[in-house]
Amino acid sequence: METITVGQLRFLLIICSAHVVHGSFNSNETDQLSLVEFKKAITRDPQQVMLSWNDSTHFCNWEGVLCRVKNPHRVTSLNLSGCGLVGNISPSIGNLTFLRYLLLPNNVFMGQIPPPLGHLHRIRYIYLSNNTLQGEIPDFANCSSLKGI
Ligand SMILES: *[C@@H]1O[C@H](CO)[C@@H](O)[C@H](O)[C@H]1NC(C)=O
Ligand SMILES: *[C@@H]1O[C@H](CO)[C@@H](O)[C@H](O)[C@H]1NC(C)=O
Ligand SMILES: *[C@@H]1O[C@H](CO)[C@@H](O)[C@H](O)[C@H]1NC(C)=O
Ligand SMILES: *[C@@H]1O[C@H](CO)[C@@H](O)[C@H](O)[C@H]1NC(C)=O
Ligand SMILES: *[C@@H]1O[C@H](CO)[C@@H](O)[C@H](O)[C@H]1NC(C)=O
Ligand SMILES: *[C@@H]1O[C@H](CO)[C@@H](O)[C@H](O)[C@H]1NC(C)=O
Repeated sequence: METITVGQLRFLLIICSAHVVHGSFNSNETDQLSLVEFKKAITRDPQQVMLSWNDSTHFCNWEGVLCRVKNPHRVTSLNLSGCGLVGNISPSIGNLTFLRYLLLPNNVFMGQIPPPLGHLHRIRYIYLSNNTLQGEIPDFANCSSLKGI
């Protein structure tokens, strides 16, 4: 168990070694709900990048979202780099069980890195640099975190 406490995090890159987890938890419906919750925690979107995050567009076609091709489609990447987003990172991200890449650098995400992110067993790469995050870095299984202030 490794928990690192930092006053304010300006740079955070976490790289995880791949390891197979059998069974798939949650569903594509959970993925959609998780993304909807993620959007709700964003209070400002000056570039309106999340305009496409609406009911008439499948969540796999939402800006910044990538899904695996195989059915049922599951979110594998969330990349909203440098979008000027202001808000918190919703703990619902921890329910995106197929997520491999979480790239949210150069935004104004505030508050804590949600501990449920540590449950993402397929995660390979988490990049959260240049936000206003603070607090503890969750315990990521089999991940090495590279950080500097
Ligand atoms: C929903 O998203 C599409 C892009 O996928 C966009 O063209 C449309 O304007 C959006 N609808 C609303 C109500 O924002
Ligand atoms: C979720 O997956 C099921 C089974 O593949 C499919 O019938 C359904 O349309 C999918 N829903 C969404 C929102 O992708
Ligand atoms: C993430 O999105 C940014 C901006 O759209 C793009 O420049 C970058 O290449 C993307 N990164 C990955 C790993 O897809
Ligand atoms: C994660 O998903 C479960 C159901 O699969 C739900 O009960 C829970 O509220 C979700 N957590 C978050 C933080 O959205
Ligand atoms: C940090 O992100 C802001 C946008 O929120 C951007 O304007 C600025 O250039 C970024 N700084 C660095 C060092 O990348
Ligand atoms: C870390 O990876 C090893 C194999 O590389 C695996 O046995 C172990 O269960 C993983 N730990 C967690 C907490 O997933």
